[in-house]
Amino acid sequence: MAAFETLRWTNGRLELLDQRALPRTTTYLALESARGVADAIREMVVRGAPAIGCAAAYGVALEALRLQDASPTTEFDAGLARAHEELAASRPTAVNLFWALTRMREKQKSLSGASGPAAAAALLEEAHAIREEDVRLNRALGEHGAALLPDRARVLTHCNAGALATAGHGTALGVIRSAVASGKIIEVLADETRPFLQGARLTAWELAQDAIPTTLIADSAAGHLMSRSEIDAVIVGADRVAANGDVANKIGTYVVAVLAQRHGIPFYVACPLSTIDLATASGAGIPIEERDPQEVTGYGEVRWAPEGVAARNPVFDVTPAALVTALITEKAVVRAPDREKLRKLFEL
Ligand code: MRU
Repeated sequence: MAAFETLRWTNGRLELLDQRALPRTTTYLALESARGVADAIREMVVRGAPAIGCAAAYGVALEALRLQDASPTTEFDAGLARAHEELAASRPTAVNLFWALTRMREKQKSLSGASGPAAAAALLEEAHAIREEDVRLNRALGEHGAALLPDRARVLTHCNAGALATAGHGTALGVIRSAVASGKIIEVLADETRPFLQGARLTAWELAQDAIPTTLIADSAAGHLMSRSEIDAVIVGADRVAANGDVANKIGTYVVAVLAQRHGIPFYVACPLSTIDLATASGAGIPIEERDPQEVTGYGEVRWAPEGVAARNPVFDVTPAALVTALITEKAVVRAPDREKLRKLFEL
């Protein structure tokens, strides 16, 4: 079990580990409304596709608890519809957000006729179930992926796809944790992940909690190390996998995938089935979030670019399926993923 909790339910409130403050401080932010959760997702208090999905589910539950005594029930229903809208508008790329909201809506539909308090209690149970399942699924995919890594592998990862990006264990870092638990010696190379520094701030911190040897590198150092045979495998997470196997993940992932192919290094993507979006035909249809350019011109209080310079900040990119050696999921490892294999994966 990781030495921290990314999100937890305490005294009727959702508490989120404030990832903006890591690695300096570990502080939790308490939230009591869907709007508060939507803001926390937008501002990256909580981030990473599965963790965003879990937080959104709790956002719906919090709103149901707030409105549980409302009468007539149309007020309850309208309040929850508003909560769904606010949460859905928080960030566009990670499909787990929409997956979790759909699951909460289905649950709500199954409760028609229930009293407000009964419906709110059931929605909270559903949010707990989504969180608990996420940890279980990550452990399952971790086991599958661990078998792919040789002992003494030097593994490059990009962004943070760890316990901090999920309800626990992690996806890409879950594979690494499971490999280490099975007795393998794994050395991690963590891309710093410009511009928001999820690698430098979060992956480096998270792996240090588990004493997994980690070396931080500038994103642009990956090609050099690959050319010197100093990287044996790449593992990343995903925000959305399209029906044809194209993978949207943190900006810079595509560059790493191209480099890995150039150097004959396996490029693995680890994610639960809730990240696979069969309704989006290919990567071209995945909405790519663009954030404030100030994340590029500086960080925190520090500004390094000249005043008034034009800057752009697309925060995800799409890696074509052809560059993916295998998709590691809780059900199976899908080598050279394509439309047909992904369709069959959901039938297993
Ligand atoms: O902008 P972020 O930090 O939410 O982006 C996170 C990523 O790109 C992760 O790799 C992805 O969500 C997978 S997390 C298991």
